[in-house]
Amino acid sequence: MPEFNDTTFRAVLGHYPTGVALVTAIGSDGSPVGMIVGSFTSVSMDPPLVAYLPTTGSRIFAKLREAETFCINVLSAQQEVTCRKFASRAEDKWDGVAWELSPGGAPIIEGVLAWIECTTDSITEAGDHYLVVGRVRCLDIHRPATPLLFFQGAYGRFTMSSVIAPSSPELVAATRLAERVRDRVETLSGQLGVVCDILAPIGCDLAYVGVVASVTDTRPEPVLGWRIPLMTPFGEQYIAYAHETAIDRWMDRGGVVEDTERSLLRDQLEAARARGWSMSKLPPSREGSFVEIMREYANGDLTPARERELRRLIEEFRLDYETGDVDEDAHYAPFTLAAPVIGPDGAPVLVVRLIGLPESASGSQIHAWAKELTTCTTELAGILTA
Ligand SMILES: Cc1cc2nc3c(=O)[nH]c(=O)nc-3n(C[C@H](O)[C@H](O)[C@H](O)COP(=O)(O)O)c2cc1C
Repeated sequence: MPEFNDTTFRAVLGHYPTGVALVTAIGSDGSPVGMIVGSFTSVSMDPPLVAYLPTTGSRIFAKLREAETFCINVLSAQQEVTCRKFASRAEDKWDGVAWELSPGGAPIIEGVLAWIECTTDSITEAGDHYLVVGRVRCLDIHRPATPLLFFQGAYGRFTMSSVIAPSSPELVAATRLAERVRDRVETLSGQLGVVCDILAPIGCDLAYVGVVASVTDTRPEPVLGWRIPLMTPFGEQYIAYAHETAIDRWMDRGGVVEDTERSLLRDQLEAARARGWSMSKLPPSREGSFVEIMREYANGDLTPARERELRRLIEEFRLDYETGDVDEDAHYAPFTLAAPVIGPDGAPVLVVRLIGLPESASGSQIHAWAKELTTCTTELAGILTA
């Protein structure tokens, strides 16, 4: 059992998901006030009571409690930005926020799911929080939509646990593209005696949409549908051809903040683009944990806490996951060679990778593979525009 302290208390309690409500009132100076709470709950039907728990030190609650009437606004999944703004200490929280007065005179925010107008029934001290019980005076559903949820320090939304598998139109379209080029990639795989895979950009990921093995491949991975997150260092060969905002997101997501490191990465992308292909090198000792991370990511049901852990591991990978120049006479342990298939608008639509390369290869051998690979991807671009 972990030690019981503030951190474990927060971490364990963070496993209970909550909705998010904005408690509003008109302050004594006539201006609106609002406080974001996750502690809203219904208490009793008869009499109709609800409650929330503000911290005793809250400056906003000091203003809220002066008002006779307050309103609980249940935030929708579309209102994350509003929520973040109200949870901050910004001075201009109400700027640009549309609202109207409830019958008893407390703000109802435009776009909320529901509002519940109350008068204060009791305020009881409970440790470092107050338990504020409100007597419900009137209430209504404002907009039938899905709620904003809060779980392990991250925002999310409600999805139905449906018996129907979710369909991803992007993935279906990309798989069709991969099918159109499959024969040619099979030829490449046969020629070089290596496994080839085909990846396509899907949202913030590159997804495996084709795996071609003309040789017996003992690796169980990758499997179709698996995803690689587009964050440094992954997906260089795709990002090198992508637009500026995608490059920035790639670095932001990978936690690259230093200007010097960002400009180094930009140079690297520039070089990858000029060369038309990329090589990644991953020490064999790291390969097992790389596959492990990818499996977790691909399974798709990461909790926010687990995702933070993966992010940390991927950031660590950056140190080992070298790309860069290939010297003709040197020897390398290449992990992958990859080249994009450029679509008619100049953006990459697919990426073809050679994997399962021999553990040691000379620079001139790598250049020879890269030449076959880029000849293939150029032909694929032609097949897709035909
Ligand atoms: C999702 C979420 C839920 C929160 N729930 C509560 C809560 O139940 N009680 C509370 O006192 N503060 C809660 N807070 C913090 C307050 O919204 C707010 O940041 C804090 O009141 C600001 O401090 P101040 O009142 O001293 O200005 C929550 C914040 C977020 C983002």
